[in-house]
Amino acid sequence: MNSKLNVDNIFYYQTVDSTNLTALKHFEEGAPSFSVIVAEEQKQGRGRLGRSWFSPRHNGLWFSLLLRPDNLSPENASPITLVTAAVLAAYFNEKINLPVKIKWPNDLLLGEKKVGGILTEMKAEQDRIIYLIIGIGINVNQQNEDFPNELRCKATSLAGESGIRFRCENLLPALLDELIKAYKLFLNQGFAPFKQRWEIYNVTLGRDISIIVTGVASEESIKGTALGITSGGALRLRDHRGVEQIIHSGEIK
Ligand code: BTN
Repeated sequence: MNSKLNVDNIFYYQTVDSTNLTALKHFEEGAPSFSVIVAEEQKQGRGRLGRSWFSPRHNGLWFSLLLRPDNLSPENASPITLVTAAVLAAYFNEKINLPVKIKWPNDLLLGEKKVGGILTEMKAEQDRIIYLIIGIGINVNQQNEDFPNELRCKATSLAGESGIRFRCENLLPALLDELIKAYKLFLNQGFAPFKQRWEIYNVTLGRDISIIVTGVASEESIKGTALGITSGGALRLRDHRGVEQIIHSGEIK
C-alpha cells in the first residue's frame, strides 16, 4: 500500500491490535515526530470513550500519526482533533466532491451516518505535551452488509454513499500530505488558520443539541443551542437558562 507515500517514517503493518497502540510502542522506541503507522487491519481498533472501532482488512484506512511537539502546552493541544477533522472534510469536499461533514468533536459524517472518526491520545507534563497520537479511521469501501448488524444504521463508507470504489493506496498519501502540512501550521499558529474551514464543514453549530458530558464520577446531559467554537476548539453552548457554557469534551446525542 505504501508505494506513493512521501513520508520519512512510515511503519506499515498487515495486522495490528490498534495503530494508536502501535504508535505508542514506536514512541517508546524513539520514533521521530511525524511518524505514521498504517495497518491493513486492526484486531482491536479503538474508538472514543472506550468503544471499539470496526477495522476490517481491505475496506478502510486505519492509521495514526505520532507528533512530538517541541513547545506545545496541554491546553493548546486539544484543537488538533478539530484541525484533523477540518482537513479531512475539506479534502473530501474539495478534492473528490464528497459532502463529508464534521460533527463536533471528532465524527466525520456522510449524510446522517458516520464515515470516519478521530481518536487523539496524548501524554503531557504540566506545561508541555510529550506526544500526541492522532488516530484516524475512514470507512472506504464497505457496503452496508459488510458492517456488523449494530452498525448498519449508523455507519457508512465513502463507497457506500457515492457508489464509487476508492483505492486506499491513492487516498492515503494524499491525506497524509494534507495532514502533515496542517500539523506543521498548527504547531506554529494554533487553531486560528483552521477555524473557518471547520465552521464551513460542521453540522453542529446553530443546532439544538443534547450533549453528554462525562465527569470524574458522573455523567451529565446538557441541552442547548450550539453557538460556536472557541479558539481552543471547545463548544460554546447556550443552555435552557440562556447561560453560555463552554464544553471541552462530550458526546452529542
Ligand atoms: C471514534 O470515532 O470513536 C474514533 C475512531 C478512531 C479510529 C481510528 S482507526 C486508527 C486508529 N487506531 C485506533 O485504534 N483507533 C484509531
